[in-house]
Amino acid sequence: MSSPEVVIYSDAEELAKATGERLLTTLIQAQADGSTARIVLTGGGSGIGLLAAITSLPARDEVDWARVEFFWGDERFVPASDPQRNDLQAREALLDSVPIDPALVHPMAASDGEFGSDVDAAAAAYAEIIGDQPSFDVVMLGIGPEGHVASIFPDSPAVHDDRTVVAVRDCPKPPPTRISLTLPTIRTASEVWIVTAGEGKAQAVATALAGAGEVSLPAAGAVGTSRTLYLLDQAAAGELAGDPAPAGHS
Ligand code: 6PG
Repeated sequence: MSSPEVVIYSDAEELAKATGERLLTTLIQAQADGSTARIVLTGGGSGIGLLAAITSLPARDEVDWARVEFFWGDERFVPASDPQRNDLQAREALLDSVPIDPALVHPMAASDGEFGSDVDAAAAAYAEIIGDQPSFDVVMLGIGPEGHVASIFPDSPAVHDDRTVVAVRDCPKPPPTRISLTLPTIRTASEVWIVTAGEGKAQAVATALAGAGEVSLPAAGAVGTSRTLYLLDQAAAGELAGDPAPAGHS
């Protein structure tokens, strides 16, 4: 497992643009040998913001989008047309603007989908899609002020669950019912990127980087097999030791 690296940008806009550029570079590199790139998207302001930033980047069209396979780290278990849906927001931000292969886009089930209100069945079905040996090039995550990633909250059933995908109920962040990858699944990724902005995340970021345990601070358990990146704006880096100054793209 990789030790976390921190890259700091001046503000949320610069963070979104630089992370969008980083994603494009990663996709191009992953495709260089003819492979299909496999990435896991996240909901939340930073996660959707970086997708939106990609639409105006010159390198956008250097990616063979038909050879990118899209998964989600978590999803709100609401009707498919509900604007709270992470997949809907990702499609509006980027996916509807690039020539993806719909067969390689794997949204998590909606509450008005084939499983109806059975969120456990919906989670189990996603686990079948992910498979027993998942391998992602990048899992992108936001982080909550208390350290959640995806829909894995501190001291919650999900943080103790070693299945691939789980149903989440009574989630502290609305809406209450969700589907989420678990930390063991997140850790199958080559790279895990925690992308966040704002002083409200500074304490969670600093605690995660200070070696907190994953049960009390789930972000601390979100590590990649080869790389773990904390991609921050200055405000989210505000509790880090020393005088973290904005870095360049690394
Ligand atoms: C969700 C997200 C969630 C999000 C964090 C950070 O479905 O809500 O997946 O994990 O990434 O809560 O969200 P913000 O970037 O909006 O603070």
